[in-house]
Amino acid sequence: MCGIVGYVGNKEVLPILLEGLERLEYRGYDSAGVAFVNPEGLKCVKSVGKIETLRRTLEGHQCKGMVGIGHTRWATHGLPSLENAHPHVDCHQKIALVHNGIIENHDFLRLSLEKEGHHFVSNTDTEVLVHLVEKYFHGDLSDALNRALSEVEGAYGVAVVSQDDPCKIVAARFGSPLAVGLGEGEHFVTSDVAAILNHTRKVVYLKDRELAVLTKEKVETGSISPIGDRCYVDVHMRAEEIEWEVDKIEKKGYRHFMHKEIHEQPASLLNVMRGRIDPDGTNVRLGVFSEKREELEGLRRILIVACGTSWHAGLVGEYMLEEYERIPVEVEYASEFRYRKPIIEEDTAVIAMSQSGETADTLAALRESKKNGAITLSICNVVGSTIAREAEGGIYLHAGPEIGVASTKVFTSQIAALHLLTILLWMRNGRAGEAASNMIKALREVPEQVDSILHREKQIEDLAQLYKDSENFLYLGRGYNFPVALEGALKLKEISYIHAEGYPAAELKHGPIALITKDMPVVFIATRDSTYGKILGNIEEVKARGGKVIAIATAGDTDIRKKVDHVFYIPEAPEPLTPILSVIPLQLLAYHMAVLRGCDVDKPRNLAKSVTVE
Ligand code: AGP
Repeated sequence: MCGIVGYVGNKEVLPILLEGLERLEYRGYDSAGVAFVNPEGLKCVKSVGKIETLRRTLEGHQCKGMVGIGHTRWATHGLPSLENAHPHVDCHQKIALVHNGIIENHDFLRLSLEKEGHHFVSNTDTEVLVHLVEKYFHGDLSDALNRALSEVEGAYGVAVVSQDDPCKIVAARFGSPLAVGLGEGEHFVTSDVAAILNHTRKVVYLKDRELAVLTKEKVETGSISPIGDRCYVDVHMRAEEIEWEVDKIEKKGYRHFMHKEIHEQPASLLNVMRGRIDPDGTNVRLGVFSEKREELEGLRRILIVACGTSWHAGLVGEYMLEEYERIPVEVEYASEFRYRKPIIEEDTAVIAMSQSGETADTLAALRESKKNGAITLSICNVVGSTIAREAEGGIYLHAGPEIGVASTKVFTSQIAALHLLTILLWMRNGRAGEAASNMIKALREVPEQVDSILHREKQIEDLAQLYKDSENFLYLGRGYNFPVALEGALKLKEISYIHAEGYPAAELKHGPIALITKDMPVVFIATRDSTYGKILGNIEEVKARGGKVIAIATAGDTDIRKKVDHVFYIPEAPEPLTPILSVIPLQLLAYHMAVLRGCDVDKPRNLAKSVTVE
């Protein structure tokens, strides 16, 4: 999820680059940098943290130049650091390159380049690209990039400048979006048109394996090819007019980041599995397991420490790991764990779960665990976050930046990651056999199943219309769906400000049933599983007292329809995977209720995306 912006024209390049990078802020980033060419040669300035830091760093530089590129980095490989920030430069600091994507054969390329004498300063995959361009540069930058990319496997959106071919930017794409912006006597390149909308609305989206040469006079493109004639064609005929406002583009046309992130879940679920399941679907590979094999093989107890939504995901993990791994697992509120002098024995693993990787209570619980000799692991979304760095090993979710304060796509990715860990540990003890392959197969079907649910969003929107004025809600579930009841209630209360409680359904008769009236809507997650019959009984208890029941049920279950007021169906899946599916309608219900109530969905009152204070 990195951001790229470049300019060539008659204006001062730096203000344009900085403005563009600020436009890309919403994508999330941990470092940024610019490179520009002027009569003195190539200049490259980078910083860790906010664009504001980069802006301040540049104030000290006499920056004159009319050709340049900029980059915001959302780390996927290699910690956020100055060395790993883009742009990357060649051995002689005459060529600078920015990249969005993953170079899959970077290890091999790096080794051969080092053998040829190239010196690397970062541990990113991207740096191999700029050294390849250096290797093939003999005065023509487009030729050099062409040859370089012909050796690359993976995805890229890339832009490069050179002081020895100073009046141009050369860019290319394969798998990561890249567009060129067309101006009068000036041209732009960007990974996201939001970055250049203040300058031009005329853009051309590059196709895969298309390489573009931008000068202030023109933009020509051709196909990437290692050798032979390359014919470049002027792109002006392909120009499209951008109708959107910037705000819309940052949200890709969605009204709120939360809505966009709910709809990103088919993709984010694919990302958390990417590279971690063998192509034949018979094995799971997690880096943390190879790094910590010995400790993980001797595990006798697992503690999961987390807050909020991450705690709910951890509860699903508890059910899964105990069912399949047969070792004791406890999920602890990090804020309680850190102060209650917990018992931590030998062979105890503590897993800190955190989207931001910066939650103060979870970080403190991790440190407490480490101090007491536990094996510490993390499941985080933000690469290089404090919790991820302080744990001895971990799993990154690669869900991309989650901007909406209410966590959605990360919750489902956390559950998927826990699935992968459960399957891997389960296979390790040799009891899994065929069942593990079936579980892997079911997990791989989940993204498409989520997509099918999202296509029926209108039904949820209609439900929200019916219940938007409710003052209270109850969410009830059993087994794997009990954590989903908690999560559904949290989603509703934190963005619509409706009071909502989640309970194990059987707890209804131990108190909450006193609340049931016709004005108390009750959401039951009532999928066809081992507790289905009991749930039907709980539904009867509510209906007998005039309560309104909304059921999340398994597709094809016609029985339940007669017993409730509304039913929303989700595809059938193995019980441990159901939470990923049953939470989707609850996320959408909370979202639409909040919108109908005029709430600030992305920034709910009193809340922060990352609670870095106690
Ligand atoms: C979830 O929607 C909330 N925003 C909140 O409960 C959040 O899950 C909690 O603060 C933990 O955050 P973390 O995952 O970044 O540690």
